[in-house]
Amino acid sequence: MKEKKQNKILELYKPYVPEAVTSRISEGKGSLPSERSETTIIFIDIRGFTKLADQLDPEKATEIINNLFAPIVGIIDKYGGSINKFLGDGLMAIFGTPFSHEDDPERAARASLEIMKSIEENGKIKIGNKVKSVKASIGINTGLCISGEIGSDSRKEFTVIGDTVNLTSRLQANAAPGKILIGENTFYRIKGNFTISPPHKLKVKGKRDLVTVYTLKSEKKKISFFEQKKNSHSPFMGRKKELKVLKEALKKSYQSKGQVIEISGELGIGKSRLILEITKDSLIKEFNILSRNCSSWEESKPYATLKEIFTKIFGIKFDDNLREIDRKIENKIKEIDSSLLFASSYFSRLLSSKIKSLEEIMEQSKEESNLFIRVMKKLLWSFSSQRPLLMIFEDVQWIDNASAEFLIQCHKELKEYPIMLIYSLRESLKKRDSIAGSKRIKLLPLVNNESDKLIRLLIKENDIYQLMKDRIISTANGNPLFIEEIVRGIKEKRLSVDKEKQGNNTEIFVDFQIPDTVQSIARARIDLLPVGLKEILYQASVLGRYIEINLFQRITNLQNKVLLDFLKKLQKYEFIEEIKPAPQLQRYFAFTHSLIQEIAYNSLLFKTRRSLHTKIGAAMEKMYLSKIDAKAEELAYHFKNSDDKEKAVFYLNKAGDKAQPLYAFKNAINYYLDSIKILESTKLEKKQLAQLSEIYNKLAFSQSVVGERKETEINLTKALEYCRKTKGKDNESLILMNMGNLYGDMGQWDRAIKYFKNSLLITKELNNLKRKARIINNIGLINLFKGDTSSGYINLKESLTLCETIKAEEIYIMALNNMGIYYDMVGEWRKALDIYKRSLSISEKNNNIIEISNTMGNLGFAYSSLNESEQAIYYFKESIILSEKIGDIYNKGINLIHLGEEYLKKDNFTKTKYYITKAEEIFKILEDKLGLADVYRLKAKLFKKLERWKDSEIFFKNAIKVYSKFGDRINEGESYYEWGDMLFIRKNKDLAKGKLLKSKKILESIGAKKYLGEIEEKLDNL
Ligand SMILES: Nc1ncnc2c1ncn2[C@@H]1O[C@H](COP(=O)(O)OP(=O)(O)OP(=O)(O)O)[C@@H](O)[C@H]1O
Ligand SMILES: [Mg+2]
Repeated sequence: MKEKKQNKILELYKPYVPEAVTSRISEGKGSLPSERSETTIIFIDIRGFTKLADQLDPEKATEIINNLFAPIVGIIDKYGGSINKFLGDGLMAIFGTPFSHEDDPERAARASLEIMKSIEENGKIKIGNKVKSVKASIGINTGLCISGEIGSDSRKEFTVIGDTVNLTSRLQANAAPGKILIGENTFYRIKGNFTISPPHKLKVKGKRDLVTVYTLKSEKKKISFFEQKKNSHSPFMGRKKELKVLKEALKKSYQSKGQVIEISGELGIGKSRLILEITKDSLIKEFNILSRNCSSWEESKPYATLKEIFTKIFGIKFDDNLREIDRKIENKIKEIDSSLLFASSYFSRLLSSKIKSLEEIMEQSKEESNLFIRVMKKLLWSFSSQRPLLMIFEDVQWIDNASAEFLIQCHKELKEYPIMLIYSLRESLKKRDSIAGSKRIKLLPLVNNESDKLIRLLIKENDIYQLMKDRIISTANGNPLFIEEIVRGIKEKRLSVDKEKQGNNTEIFVDFQIPDTVQSIARARIDLLPVGLKEILYQASVLGRYIEINLFQRITNLQNKVLLDFLKKLQKYEFIEEIKPAPQLQRYFAFTHSLIQEIAYNSLLFKTRRSLHTKIGAAMEKMYLSKIDAKAEELAYHFKNSDDKEKAVFYLNKAGDKAQPLYAFKNAINYYLDSIKILESTKLEKKQLAQLSEIYNKLAFSQSVVGERKETEINLTKALEYCRKTKGKDNESLILMNMGNLYGDMGQWDRAIKYFKNSLLITKELNNLKRKARIINNIGLINLFKGDTSSGYINLKESLTLCETIKAEEIYIMALNNMGIYYDMVGEWRKALDIYKRSLSISEKNNNIIEISNTMGNLGFAYSSLNESEQAIYYFKESIILSEKIGDIYNKGINLIHLGEEYLKKDNFTKTKYYITKAEEIFKILEDKLGLADVYRLKAKLFKKLERWKDSEIFFKNAIKVYSKFGDRINEGESYYEWGDMLFIRKNKDLAKGKLLKSKKILESIGAKKYLGEIEEKLDNL
């Protein structure tokens, strides 16, 4: 009886079962080899169905069978499983053999849930007046099975056997109607994507121990085919060669052969990713890593990048007060290199953003700005000697000028230290030259099979991959970011499609358009966001790449928790990510890719942007009340893009004033120009006129330092005009003094003196004695240049006396050194020595290292002129020690040459050679051609004394070639003289005459008198 029913059922749903399966089941044809494989088994039983069918007439029964079983067959098929056996009221289905998928347990679970639902819908059976519901109970289990054809040649059957099968059958038997019981193995394979009730233990027939079973409830979300990508990266493709270059460089830098690497390429091509990969190298754990991402709006913020690097080194927190900052700087310098303690004030200036007046800034000499850079370098070198250092600068297309300048200067000396410097930049936005001598890696698109592989791994569902891969490959063009974005787009498309269509991928994707730029893909993704969330994203974009929660909260006026919720959602969509902040920092998020931020920002209406910038500015003012100077650049940026012109001018100006003391004059210029532009577009009342005059003056000063003389002149004139409208006397005298300095620099002595004198008149009215002393000193120096030594002497004397009465030590030292130059000029070496020594003792008292080292050098020369060799050598050596201390290796090289010259005078050839070698080493590292020319010249003079004429000649030639190429006329002229003198000694009259005449011509043309007497004498004697 039972047997008969079974066949009846089989007959009935034959049409629904795939050919291959039915044929195997009923006829046992075909041949499939036996194998061991992991299989997921489903047992389904429709409780009481057979009994029910008996009460019905056959036609009715057939109909019911159709309604109940046909869908089951369809569902199993849809998920890629097959029906293996019919068993009375139920059946056994298998997933994973003979055809397997990597997610067979999931497929089985999904199929079971769908079957359960289908039976619930179709299981209401009317018998007479009553409605009877039938329900299924299901068991699922996963495990190792043996499958294959079993049976005789005449009747073969595809069978699965093993413990798993038995256990599954038991699970099903224990499942209550309407329930799905799953075994432990299945549970572990599917738990992420399904809701499952807690386990319970079950006594199962044929098993000694209790087994753990779970009840499968429902699917979680429809993220069926994508791996959950949150915070994980795409699998890394290709880039073998590039990684090798990086690894080798890393090894070299570890061995103290510093490396600079540039990684360039278009947006999203994988620059940052490549850097991430190198940080997985095992050698990396030996390194300290300092890294920094530049962002677009920080371009104008001087030292934004370096500041952060040093902040990290010193461990400074944002809310540290000035004293705390100074203390940390000192402690850390002590630890890293205590010989640099003298420079702690430079670091505190860098990190504490103190603002100084224009007059104070003018006191700081150009030399000081060099020192500033050198001590920063020196600290990095010393830091790297504690532990190798990897510095990463990302998106250098947006680096601020001052930091860029610094990095460029670094690279030469860096070769000597265990430092690796990696910087990345977007090719298309590249504004500056590469750092000379850096190794360059240019990232090209992934090749097709790499793209293909990446796509396959990102799209897990095979049919979607097959459907889309060609379109993705051709659109993405090997750009991994593009690939990722397209795949995300597909994912979202799939999620947003109607439920009924789920599963039918061909239908979903047949006319799916892939936008043709990564921008539009990203934009499309943004457009899919719910309105509220999208607005939050847009607003955040006005903050820049980084979203500081506290600040953002003030702008959105949302409760902290609500805002955080929004941000978390945006993070889920992978638009932003939370950054694990250093302990000192507040909690913040960042856009996952600058692209998203740019697009969101560009989508905002101008009006909205401006109002958001105003809001942000105002919120920042409140938040950072006590540290407002530290935020000047940010505030300048926001207000500049807002409607609040007054604030814009105010902060732009402040930002400029902050840039000047850091010697970031180019940045200062830009800030001042911006602020002038805004100010001049407003109504000009007295207040604005006064502001304009001041800003023009500051602008002109910055321009004069960077050598923009025409602009300086124009802007000083403007400053003067505005100033005279407001009758601001103090400013007027300052402007006039600056004009004097400008014309002095330009060699227009008389004009310079005229302006200084005008300035002096007003300054006297104002009774500003310090400025008076400064102006008189300046006049004195110009008189010396003019050759009017006696007037110069009188001026300098007056300035010195004035300085003494008002105790203006800095100006006093300047005037003293100028006085030294005076005595130099008039050949009174002893007096010059006295003056220098006085100056030295003051500088030593003040620990003014720049003046100390200058004066030491001057002393060396003065002694050398007096032929007091021992003293000269002493001071040159002192100067070398000092140079070393402040990291001024150029100056060290120069002093080594002076030493060599001094020893050559004494015919100590061994020592001369020694210093030549030392100096040569340095200038080679620095790639300083002129320094090397000095080395050649000294070598030539050495060979001349050793009477190795040929060698001497070669080196004179070499030196002269370089001098002439770089327009160093004085050294060129002097070298010709020395060469001529050598030929004179050898009595090579014609040649000697040629060189001497050449020398004479050059030296005369620049008004250098030193050798002219000797040259005439020799020419006469020829
Ligand atoms: N070789 C690669 N294999 C797999 N995925 C990659 C590869 N290179 C980059 N990606 C992925 O592509 C995305 C973009 O890469 P990345 O952020 O490194 O680009 P980028 O060149 O730094 O772009 P940008 O110029 O905007 O800074 C990242 O999600 C990254 O994980
Ligand atoms: Mg990048």
